[in-house]
Amino acid sequence: MTEPLRLLIICLGNICRSPMAEGALRARLQASRPTRKILVDSAGTGGWHVGEPADLRTIATAARHGVDISDLRARQLCPADYTRFDWLLCADRNNLRDVLAAAPAGADARAHLLLPWAGVAGDSEIPDPYTGAVADFERVWHLVDAAATAIVARHGLVGVD
Ligand code: 4NP
Repeated sequence: MTEPLRLLIICLGNICRSPMAEGALRARLQASRPTRKILVDSAGTGGWHVGEPADLRTIATAARHGVDISDLRARQLCPADYTRFDWLLCADRNNLRDVLAAAPAGADARAHLLLPWAGVAGDSEIPDPYTGAVADFERVWHLVDAAATAIVARHGLVGVD
C-alpha cells in the first residue's frame, strides 16, 4: 500500500462544519475497502472553543445520519499541521485565506476549498451554520457527506455498504 493520504479539514471554530466533515468522512471510510489509507483530522482557525465537544446541534445532526461525533474535541490549527498533513481542506474562502496567511515558511501542505477539492459539483463553500437553524446544519451535513462520498470514490476506495 502507498503512503497514507493525510487530510486536515478546517473551519472557523472546529465545532460545526469541520467536525461534521471529519465524522462523515470517517464513516464513509469505515464503510469502504481502502486501497489507500486516508487519515483525517479537523481543526479551527480560531481558538474560542478549544477543548470543547462539537456544538450540540452538530452532534445531533451527525447522529440523525447515524454518525457519533460526541468524542471529538475542538482544537486550533497550529504550525505543525502544515507539515503533518498533505492537504488543508477549508470550509469557506475566509478559512482558506486565514490558512494561507498563517502558513509557516517551508510548509509542505497544500490548502484548498474542501468541496471543489473533493470534486463536488455546485457549491464551493460550506456556509457557517453557527447562527443558523437546524435546516442550516442539515445542509452542512449534505455538503460534507457529498465531499466524503466523492473522496472515497476518487481515491480508489470501494464502498461496502
Ligand atoms: P464552525 O462554526 O466554523 O463551522 O465551527 C463556528 C463556530 C463558532 C464560531 C463561529 C463559527 N464562533 O464565532 O464562536
